[in-house]
Amino acid sequence: MRSDTKNNPVTVDVKTGRIDYERIRADFPILDQQIHGNRLVYLDSAATSQKPRTVINALLDYYRKYNANIHRGIHALAEEATAAYEATRQKVAGFLGGVAPEEVIFTSGTTEAINLVAYSWGEKNIKEGDEIVITEMEHHANLVPWVILAQKKKAVLKRIPITICGHLDLTHIEDIITDRTRLVAVTHMSNVLGTINPVFEITQVAGRHGALVLADGAQAAPHMPVDIKQLNVDFYAFSAHKMLGPTGVGVLWAKKHLLEEMPPFIMGGEMIREVSFDRITWNDLPHKFEAGTPNIGNVIAFKAALDYIEELGMDNIRLHEMAITRYAIQRLSELEGLEIQGPLEPTQRGAAVSFTDPKIHPHDIGTFLDSKGIAIRAGHHCAQPLIRAMGKVATARASFYVYNDEKDVDALVEALIEMRRYFGV
Ligand code: ALA
Repeated sequence: MRSDTKNNPVTVDVKTGRIDYERIRADFPILDQQIHGNRLVYLDSAATSQKPRTVINALLDYYRKYNANIHRGIHALAEEATAAYEATRQKVAGFLGGVAPEEVIFTSGTTEAINLVAYSWGEKNIKEGDEIVITEMEHHANLVPWVILAQKKKAVLKRIPITICGHLDLTHIEDIITDRTRLVAVTHMSNVLGTINPVFEITQVAGRHGALVLADGAQAAPHMPVDIKQLNVDFYAFSAHKMLGPTGVGVLWAKKHLLEEMPPFIMGGEMIREVSFDRITWNDLPHKFEAGTPNIGNVIAFKAALDYIEELGMDNIRLHEMAITRYAIQRLSELEGLEIQGPLEPTQRGAAVSFTDPKIHPHDIGTFLDSKGIAIRAGHHCAQPLIRAMGKVATARASFYVYNDEKDVDALVEALIEMRRYFGV
């Protein structure tokens, strides 16, 4: 594998864990630009993160120097590409706290990873009258597949409600998860409320009833240490593009015995061992679940993203984001009537901060902020049942990552003050 994509050392204040923001920002070429004549302030990392130069270079290197298909060729380029692709798998296995690499399945993203479980495990294991438990704060990716599976199988879909403060309401959890429950699907961190959910506690209840637990880690994996063994889940899904990596790459981690028992989800080349017209046998893990030519270049570049995160230190990233979140909540609270959604205590939440203004629609907020060079997301955030449960039609959401700091929060708040003046409210 080539080593010319190595990161430069990154700077973290060892006492505070705070990241040297100016130094980090310089690693992200896209941030060095003006939008509508203003410095770009990117506050939409919960939708997709920006990519450091090392990730972009890793992708370019693959296409410039060793583009080849993997696991098939017997030439030098194919061997190099295969080694680099499998190195990412090893890296992911370490990132998850040291799981077996064959338990790491590359998908196109969190959505495909969860669909893989719904179609493969779900089709085989869910029967009429079984229960699937989800929560009221799920992203559509961890909701629609279960609604459809429950309808198809005549299974019962139950949900854990949320409290007024944006936590899961676990008061009646023992009534919701029963001996008929086969699966609990829960987000590790809400993309709207920012809430970090007590996944381990949920696995304890589920385990007593013989139910499996799937955690949607799309918002958690980029922002906090994830140790699969400590979480005690059976399935964990996340996306590369929200954690400094390329789009089109996701990970499904699952316990080996489950993956071994699950039928393949997509059929084709690579996932087979022997094929005849009347009998087909499956390849070993993880290849059984990676049919066809995978997203080779992007998987390879994902390793550079994980290297970058590792150099910063996930604990430092979490500390950095808690500090920004605390500051953002404090500053946003200065705007009279502005409603911040989700827990207000940064230790209980991540750095996706949704808010609503009593007089200005979230889409107008988004458009006004864009005119100032500030990128946020506005809308239902692919979580319509949650937005309805909150009594809203939409929210505005600012989400922070390693390349943001308090200056970006100040820019946001100043623009919101200007927006109110502009709209005369
Ligand atoms: N799931 C992404 C978001 O919350 C797209 O914005």
